Amino acid sequence: MTMKAVVNEKYGSPEGMELKEIDKPIHEDDEVLIKTYATSVNTLDIFYRSGMKVFFGLSRLSSGIRRPHKTVLGFDISGEIVEIGKDVTDFKVGDLVYGGASSGANAEFAKTKYDKIALKASNMSHAEAGVISVAGLSALQGLRDGGNIQKGQNVLIYGASGGIGTYAVQLAKSFGTTVTAVASGKNKDLVLGLGADYFIDYTKEDFTRNEEKYDLIFDTVAKSPMSRWKAALKPNGIFVNAGSPSMSITRFMLNRLVNKFSQKKYKSFDTQYSRKDLEFMAKLAEEGKFRSAIEKTYSLEEIAEAHRHYEGGHTAGKIAVIIREDA
Ligand SMILES: NC(=O)c1ccc[n+]([C@@H]2O[C@H](COP(=O)([O-])OP(=O)(O)OC[C@H]3O[C@@H](n4cnc5c(N)ncnc54)[C@H](OP(=O)(O)O)[C@@H]3O)[C@@H](O)[C@H]2O)c1
Repeated sequence: MTMKAVVNEKYGSPEGMELKEIDKPIHEDDEVLIKTYATSVNTLDIFYRSGMKVFFGLSRLSSGIRRPHKTVLGFDISGEIVEIGKDVTDFKVGDLVYGGASSGANAEFAKTKYDKIALKASNMSHAEAGVISVAGLSALQGLRDGGNIQKGQNVLIYGASGGIGTYAVQLAKSFGTTVTAVASGKNKDLVLGLGADYFIDYTKEDFTRNEEKYDLIFDTVAKSPMSRWKAALKPNGIFVNAGSPSMSITRFMLNRLVNKFSQKKYKSFDTQYSRKDLEFMAKLAEEGKFRSAIEKTYSLEEIAEAHRHYEGGHTAGKIAVIIREDA
């Protein structure tokens, strides 16, 4: 059986991606096959499409030296389970799920491991759920595991209007913290609408020059020098860098050095798929405390445009790629 999918066989520009008819993926015993309704675009898609060197030249060791191993992209997914591996006991055919796709979600069908998905919140459309996994899990794991976020804290989210940032604002509020959101002025209403208590426009104001001190600074942009965030942290404050992988050599050295000589802590992390965390976010969504802010939707045919949009670096929330019209 075949399906429509966007295929990327060479590293390069978005135009290199091609809509084709290819074989449907065959799931393993611990996997499910999902009829895809929606997906999104993340830095990972850009990395695998372009072959950019995000890990100081090591990137192509993981993605393929000459050409990408992964030819169908799309790491987020929302859809309906249509087939189940014999070892999967906690889902059934017909379940509506969201999470991460093992084979790419830029396709009518995708397979994934049972522990990379959870049931979709019933009050979310596939379009809303299909953009969450990478950015939502990054926000949750960064704040909770990296930042040890605690009720009553004063938290600053830098890059609050992006994919990770819009989820981080809502999650930080759900932990009972006071949230200051930093973004450009055009996104003020967006982030205040997601629950932020205060807003700072980074194009007009440098938050590190204010008197305010924070228990936790969560940076999704990773363009600021160290001196910037240190001044704005409380004595035992934690800075979490969500914008860089923890395995990069400079980040690793920086973590070790800063954390050895300062009470103020510097953390970076690598996002992991987690059923428990996906369930946590779905529950928050059911309670009306968590949603996706979607700036624009694209069809599978428009995937190159969706990549260009994301690569612009100023997406307000997420962009959704709709595979089936009733998403
Ligand atoms: N640690 C991990 O495991 C992990 C996992 C996933 C992603 N990431 C990384 O996290 C980063 C963010 O991902 P994302 O999907 O949230 O990106 P995104 O949706 O493109 O968001 C980028 C945000 O950055 C802001 N921004 C852009 N330039 C800025 C500047 N000069 N100063 C201040 N803010 C600026 C934008 O705000 P305005 O439009 O308002 O200017 C926007 O809100 C990426 O670098 C990605 O590689 C890390």
